Order: sequence, then structure tokens, then C-alpha cells
Amino acid sequence: MVVSEIIGVVGAGTMGNGIAQVAARAGYQVVLRDVKEEFLERGLKAVDRSLQRDVDKERMQPAEKRDVIERITTTTDFAALAPANFIIEAVTENLAIKTEVFRALDEVASPAAILASNTSSISITKLGAATRRPHKVIGMHFMNPVPVMKLVEVIRGLATSDETYERTRALTEQMGKQALECNDSAGFVSNRVLMPMINEAIFALHENVATRESIDGIMKLGMNHPMGPLTLADFIGLDVCLAIMNVLHEELGDPKYRPCPLLKRYVDAGWLGKKTGRGFYEYEK
Ligand code: 3HC
Repeated sequence: MVVSEIIGVVGAGTMGNGIAQVAARAGYQVVLRDVKEEFLERGLKAVDRSLQRDVDKERMQPAEKRDVIERITTTTDFAALAPANFIIEAVTENLAIKTEVFRALDEVASPAAILASNTSSISITKLGAATRRPHKVIGMHFMNPVPVMKLVEVIRGLATSDETYERTRALTEQMGKQALECNDSAGFVSNRVLMPMINEAIFALHENVATRESIDGIMKLGMNHPMGPLTLADFIGLDVCLAIMNVLHEELGDPKYRPCPLLKRYVDAGWLGKKTGRGFYEYEK
């Protein structure tokens, strides 16, 4: 299926390239924007690798894979996003950077376009306020790995209109995902519940309650989680986990959300998890 609607994706990192992939696979034309050519090349390589899994398992024809990749055009220019009816931002989890991106998108995007953020914890209301179209700003929180995970947490900012919500829900379903709605509060539902669990597992390690293998094994085997919390933290990125805990702590003010000192120390050391080759575990780069 090829659809005429054009989806813009800003940021070609893990989440951005995954979003571009599922949109292109659903038949949309995708314009993927990042600041450097090398980031775009890396993003497209990740899409290629991810689709190749399906080709290898004979769930996708090589020609179909080529068509999906061809539906993604890349650019370093914001202006190239002008024809998109729907733009999904997936840049670094940093309020100042995201605010800048939303200001720029508001300038170039058509007045009808919806601007969605894949933020994992930043306020959609704040991002909306950086634009002249807060009623067309919404949160679309995909889960990692995007091609595999079914959920998109759809977050309404204070000014988000019902029409924007409906268009977002419909797009989510077109992309083969399930939308679940939530209001704009720190960490939304997913990270408000997930991150304190991960943080507590890090406290358990810090306080020598058990080894990393035991902590992960207990949660994996005992609770039927697909990954133990320390493995999951490495998979998400320890910098991302720390940024989310900081948002929960600052916004909600309760000391129960304070990030574990061991998490801070690992981030200071540059041990950010799988992506740097070291987190709570060691990985081949
Ligand atoms: N692209 C495409 N397919 C992928 C993939 C990728 N990047 N990664 C895994 N897969 C597919 C595999 O091909 C395989 O497909 P199949 O079963 O149909 O053959 C399937 O996923 C399972 O993969 P594996 O057999 O390689 O490995 P696992 O069984 O260990 O599953 C996992 C991997 C899906 C990542 C699983 O461990 C899992 O679900 N982990 C938890 C993930 C999670 O909790 N994500 C949410 C993180 S929080 C978040 O994103 C929010 C943010 O704000 C922090």
C-alpha cells in the first residue's frame, strides 16, 4: 500500500529511524531530517538491518524492502519538511533542543500540519507553547525497538484539540500500532511506572542487595519481564534513564523519584549502556 500523505521525521537516531521505518512500511512517503549526513546514513543503515531480519525470515521480499527504503528521503534542511502533513520529532531528550526544533518546525510546516513529539518525559504543553499552533501539538511516544513494540502512548497537551488527537490515533493505527491515551504529566504513564522500577533495581545493586545477574534474573523469571531492569536500562541508555528520573524528580517533587547515585556515576563515566559498549554489563561495540 502506498499512501499520499507525507510524514516528516526529525532525528535519525534509534527512535527516529525506527519511526521512519514503520511509517514507510505502512506505505507513507517519509522525509527524515537530521543535522548531519553521517547521522542520516547511520539511520538508514539501521533501517536496512532491521528490515533485513524480515527478509532473512522470509517474511518480506527483497523488492518490498527496497521499496520501503526508497520511500524514505533524507535531508539536513528543515525546509524539506514543508510538504509533510504530519511531523514527528525524535531528537535528543533535552527541553532546550526540542523547543528550538518545535519553533523551527512551526515556521516551515504547513498550517494544517500536526507536530508530534516522541518525547519520553518532556511536557507537551511546553512544546506546544513554543509554537503558534499549540492545538496541533501532541505527544507520540513510541517504545524501543520501534518496529517490534505495539504501543504508542499518545499524550494530549493542555491545548491539544480533539481533532489533533483523532488524526494522531488514526495515524498510529495506520502504522500498525495501538494508541493509548494519556494526559500531560511528568513521565506520562510509561516512564512514571517503568523508570522508578529501573531506578530501584539500580539502588538494589548499589546497596549490594544482589548481583546484577540476580536482580535481572529475579525480575525476568519471577515477573515474566522480557528483560531484567538493569539489562533494560542498558538497552534504553543510562543517560536517557537519568534524564527521565531528573524530570520526574523536578516536576513531581517527591524524593521517591531521586535518581540513584550509582546511575549518576555511570553516566559521569560515559558508561551509557549498550550504545557505548558498557553499562551495567559489557557489550561488543
Ligand atoms: N528491528 C526489527 N525487529 C527486531 C528488532 C529491531 N530492532 N529487535 C528485535 N526484533 C525482533 C526479532 O527479529 C524477533 O522477531 P521474531 O520473534 O518475529 O522472529 C523479535 O523481535 C524478538 O527478538 P530476539 O529474538 O532477537 O530477542 P528477544 O526475544 O530477547 O526480544 C526484545 C528482544 C523485543 C527487545 C525483548 O527483549 C523486549 O521486548 N524487551 C523489552 C523492551 C522494552 O521494554 N521496551 C520499552 C523500553 S522503554 C521505552 O522505549 C520508552 C522510553 O521512553 C525509555
